[in-house]
Amino acid sequence: MATILLLGAGELGKEFVIAAQRLSQKVIAIDSYENAPAMQVAHEWEVINMLDGDALDAVVKKYNPDYIVPEIEAIRTERFYEYEKQGYTVVPSAKAANYTMNRKAIRDLASKELGLKTAHYRYATSATELKKAVEEIGMPCVVKPLMSSSGKGQSTIKSQADIEKAWNYSQEGSRGDVAEVIVESFVNFNYEITLLTVTQREGETLFCPPIGHRQERGDYQESWQPATMKTNHLEAAKDMAAKVTEALGGAGIWGIEFFVGNEGVYFSELSPRPHDTGMVTLANTQNFNEFELHLRAVIGLPIPEITLERKGASAVILANDFSENPNFYGIEKVAAAPKSDFRLFGKPTSRPYRRMGVVVTYGNLDKDISEITERAKNLACKVKVLS
Ligand SMILES: Nc1ncnc2c1ncn2[C@@H]1O[C@H](COP(=O)(O)OP(=O)(O)OP(=O)(O)O)[C@@H](O)[C@H]1O
Ligand SMILES: [Mg+2]
Repeated sequence: MATILLLGAGELGKEFVIAAQRLSQKVIAIDSYENAPAMQVAHEWEVINMLDGDALDAVVKKYNPDYIVPEIEAIRTERFYEYEKQGYTVVPSAKAANYTMNRKAIRDLASKELGLKTAHYRYATSATELKKAVEEIGMPCVVKPLMSSSGKGQSTIKSQADIEKAWNYSQEGSRGDVAEVIVESFVNFNYEITLLTVTQREGETLFCPPIGHRQERGDYQESWQPATMKTNHLEAAKDMAAKVTEALGGAGIWGIEFFVGNEGVYFSELSPRPHDTGMVTLANTQNFNEFELHLRAVIGLPIPEITLERKGASAVILANDFSENPNFYGIEKVAAAPKSDFRLFGKPTSRPYRRMGVVVTYGNLDKDISEITERAKNLACKVKVLS
């Protein structure tokens, strides 16, 4: 039995712990608040500030884990390099976790070092620099803090008047201690996908069928699998995914985001861990869901193949209000629908738009994916999360 230190105990972590429990692995779940979803199913849990390097060192020392598995970005990932030197296994690797928490590191690697196709981009550290960067990139363009996720601090500049606002907004939404932003040309894509990619300690890199998704307010609303795309576009995405995962190193699942437009496939960003849009695999669309794949890759069990078993979709259940005691109203309507299922994450408190659960729907491989997605969306709308 391996000991896994899970850094971040959200809904993705919870499914990962369930996968680990099924294979009798021991998990210690860490987060910044008590009763986080993954803590509810882990063997042990602790509350620490994971941006505090000393607090992080202390839990690593205390549990002496076989695997350190980050579930979120907001961690003092610089320390991961030390842990690797001390002989710990960081999943997928210290470099992967460290690079992906900063948009600059990962974008320069992808674009400059590996030559992947990305949106044009510049960096800026002040409103004045942002103005200059916007001149070079052109409008519309997208501004994002270097350290942020879920669309925090992100906005689109359409005219000169937006520049100052975009700068101020980016500073409110930045997580780290850096004020710098990335400015990207707006990609007028036809659709966007997540390509779940699995790297194995021994064995070849595998790809899940592509997942389509729709974003709103910085978070995904629905995802579906498989996304319909041209073979040459899928091959281009796989090629880029293989290159970037190889450069970052290690074993695990990766959620790699691409935009597909008339000019081809653009690499956008990636997470070296299960991806939220990958919750669609909870509809048993594949022989193994993304959490089971991650677990197998982490503990070094072989994965012979990934197969599409049926089509599926997911749609998020969001909270309607602030609550210290959130309740789900209308969930029986979801339960009553055929070829549908749901997960409620067990988050102890809610705020408007907080993701509290997910509906999944599915159908045979000959069914229409947009019909399956519509069903998920309509069912999720029937649920209200209130006190
Ligand atoms: N250059 C761009 N052109 C067009 N749309 C963009 C661009 N950059 C981002 N977007 C849109 O905004 C969404 C969020 O952007 P991105 O993934 O970079 O941010 P994020 O905060 O890391 O999001 P998350 O952590 O939820 O994945 C994208 O999925 C896409 O829909
Ligand atoms: Mg993203």
